[in-house]
Amino acid sequence: MALLAIPFFTSWMLTLFLLFVPTLASEWIEYPDNGFATLTHYSLPLDYIASCGCTAESTHYPTAALSQMAFGSSTAYGPACGRCFNLTLLNTFLSVPPFFPSGHQSIVVKVTDLCPLSTTGWCNATTNGPNAAGHDLNFDLAFPSTSIPSNFFPSNASYYGYTDFGVWNISYESVSCSNWEGWNDAAALGSVTGQGPESVCCAADPTNSSNTCTSYSDHNGIAPDTTTSLGHSTPQPYIFTLSLVSSILPLFGYFYE
Ligand SMILES: *[C@@H]1O[C@H](CO)[C@@H](O)[C@H](O)[C@H]1NC(C)=O
Ligand SMILES: *[C@@H]1O[C@H](CO)[C@@H](O)[C@H](O)[C@H]1NC(C)=O
Ligand SMILES: *[C@@H]1O[C@H](CO)[C@@H](O)[C@H](O)[C@H]1NC(C)=O
Ligand SMILES: *[C@@H]1O[C@H](CO)[C@@H](O)[C@H](O)[C@H]1NC(C)=O
Ligand SMILES: *[C@@H]1O[C@H](CO)[C@@H](O)[C@H](O)[C@H]1NC(C)=O
Repeated sequence: MALLAIPFFTSWMLTLFLLFVPTLASEWIEYPDNGFATLTHYSLPLDYIASCGCTAESTHYPTAALSQMAFGSSTAYGPACGRCFNLTLLNTFLSVPPFFPSGHQSIVVKVTDLCPLSTTGWCNATTNGPNAAGHDLNFDLAFPSTSIPSNFFPSNASYYGYTDFGVWNISYESVSCSNWEGWNDAAALGSVTGQGPESVCCAADPTNSSNTCTSYSDHNGIAPDTTTSLGHSTPQPYIFTLSLVSSILPLFGYFYE
């Protein structure tokens, strides 16, 4: 009888685990206004409308994607949309040896895009743990960009034999968007027209709850963990999960007696 009970119990546990994953992963990362992060770069075509739905003109100035669990949504816009950060390059750490440039290059970026959560990779931090560099945040800079000098990233080609280190250890600082290069270009602020407020949100300078974008995922009941197939996190399955836990606890006692 016990032999029959074990596989049943195991599959039940697996079901419970699968149900539980999106619940745990739905906790967005809360981060301080200053800290350390990793910086990568990605190709964003000029005039492309990225996840937040910020105007095409925003791509004419420095922009970045932010790792999903800090961005605050798995789809479309999140609370980070429109926020501006001063990013300062500190060092590389994958290169051998690590590279510490003589000067500290800084850039003020506006977050306009989402860097999707992945199991590995630099945008994989969750409330359960950081990325491989020990950081909760990864900024993915749109680079090359017409607004950023092509030699923005320091290098030492004669020593390393390449110029692109791929990933940097940086410090970040939340700053007012009045420090952003696109601030005086009204066409670079805000979100695109013709989409409706339910699908786009790009705050010009988010400073408090009344001018900060909400989470598209939270509004639409989309589970943030894109690595599972359970995409409908309405309150019902959540309650169901909790009730499963309480009904399974007696079984636990039985199993380990
Ligand atoms: C960004 O950070 C650098 C390095 O700390 C600093 O020199 C610069 O003034 C900062 N820029 C803004 C706009 O805060
Ligand atoms: C992210 O991926 C790295 C390996 O690249 C791993 O060491 C780390 O534990 C992962 N973090 C999370 C939260 O899964
Ligand atoms: C990033 O820089 C900080 C400050 O210098 C340092 O404490 C940390 O170890 C660095 N992390 C990596 C992965 O290089
Ligand atoms: C490149 O690295 C080597 C070895 O650390 C150093 O001697 C040289 O001065 C560096 N050159 C530049 C331009 O940083
Ligand atoms: C939010 O910030 C804006 C701009 O700084 C300000 O005008 C507004 O009064 C603030 N709202 C609240 C509720 O604090």
